[in-house]
Amino acid sequence: MLNWDNPLEQVQPANKSTTAPIPPSAPMVNDEPQTLAASYASSDVIGDMSFDDTGVTLPEVKAPADDADAKLAKDAVEGIERDLAEAIHGIAPVKASDKRVINGEADVNQLAPFKYPWAWEYFLNANKNHWTPLDINMSQDIQDYQHKLSDSEKHVYENVLAYLTTSDILAMRNIGLAVMEKMTAPELQIYQARQVYEEALHTWTYQHCIETIGLDQGEIYNRYRVVPAIHGKIKLANKRLDSVMRSDMDLRDPKNLTEFVMAYIFFAAIFEGTWFYNGFTPIFSLQRRGLMKGTAEQLQYIMRDEVMHASFGIRVVKQIMLENDVTLDPKAIRDMWDESEKAEIDYAHYILKSPILGYTAEDHIEQYRFIANRRARQLGLEEPYPNAQNRTPWLDEQANMKKEKNFFETRVTEYQTGGALDWG
Ligand SMILES: [Fe+2]
Ligand SMILES: [Fe+2]
Repeated sequence: MLNWDNPLEQVQPANKSTTAPIPPSAPMVNDEPQTLAASYASSDVIGDMSFDDTGVTLPEVKAPADDADAKLAKDAVEGIERDLAEAIHGIAPVKASDKRVINGEADVNQLAPFKYPWAWEYFLNANKNHWTPLDINMSQDIQDYQHKLSDSEKHVYENVLAYLTTSDILAMRNIGLAVMEKMTAPELQIYQARQVYEEALHTWTYQHCIETIGLDQGEIYNRYRVVPAIHGKIKLANKRLDSVMRSDMDLRDPKNLTEFVMAYIFFAAIFEGTWFYNGFTPIFSLQRRGLMKGTAEQLQYIMRDEVMHASFGIRVVKQIMLENDVTLDPKAIRDMWDESEKAEIDYAHYILKSPILGYTAEDHIEQYRFIANRRARQLGLEEPYPNAQNRTPWLDEQANMKKEKNFFETRVTEYQTGGALDWG
């Protein structure tokens, strides 16, 4: 049995605790706040109290000559106004219309009323794709790697994992450290919190594959540092991440806002939506020939998550652009596609320097362009690579494959769900 105070220690069942946990079905003591919240949602007036007039006249503040000082003074006055209003009338209710993706003033600790119900739907749907890498049988992969893969195929397999391991940590840091803190609607942050967990799960998955196959972990994890073609993609992502991972980044500044939007587009549409989506393909091509099927199945679950990450990110960034009237510089967008394409070309030529049966570097590069066009359309942007061909039409099938039946038949461990926990 697990010791829940110290999960790393296994303990023997002891005497039943005298402190019983609250059963999940315990009734709410008082549902009044919910009732009030419903009425708050549509009005600034509660009973005969209006939140529009605080009855307080604030002293006039003269604007200093310097713009930065003026802004500080304005923020200070607004803060005093809020504090006074709260002191007199209590905390104002949150209205959905108060919420904004960024730069909002509404209480970020209050989930409803939703302004972005689609974000909550993403969270609910994300929870339908739950697995752990231990659920998938990898024993045949060990045999395949040792006895069936050619040197070229081993090169592909190892380097795809070497790239993905570092990429997923970057994705986690981006969403968890640079993006989440700037969101001002909790329904967005909740899906992003799930995304942070999923990126960690993906990192575990690659680590599990690397360890199970018996690869040299130190060498594989260092590969992105010593192989320029892998490092090139990581370097581009790090550059975008560094540009937005600043806790003092004021998104009311148009220059900062543009930088944030561009980084968000890069991570959602290129890093996750194109590089990741296309990054699993070399291993899927092995799977189609009956090789490394355990690893490929792991990647199929990851790919489902990544499709949602990309689509959620694109939706969020479009909402930011709408709410803040952001116009993108076409040259900056073009440069972003071009540098991403160049990095992907270098990467493809490295991992597939010798083509493997059924998949070449040219297939990989053309597929990058084809998927990039799809992401551009989703963003409402011009296609960067008109006439790009779909060289791996089976890839979308791979992403959408219904696996649940086999998954639950073949899983090798049992989940500890809330209902099954022994609290004794
Ligand atoms: Fe991921
Ligand atoms: Fe992701």
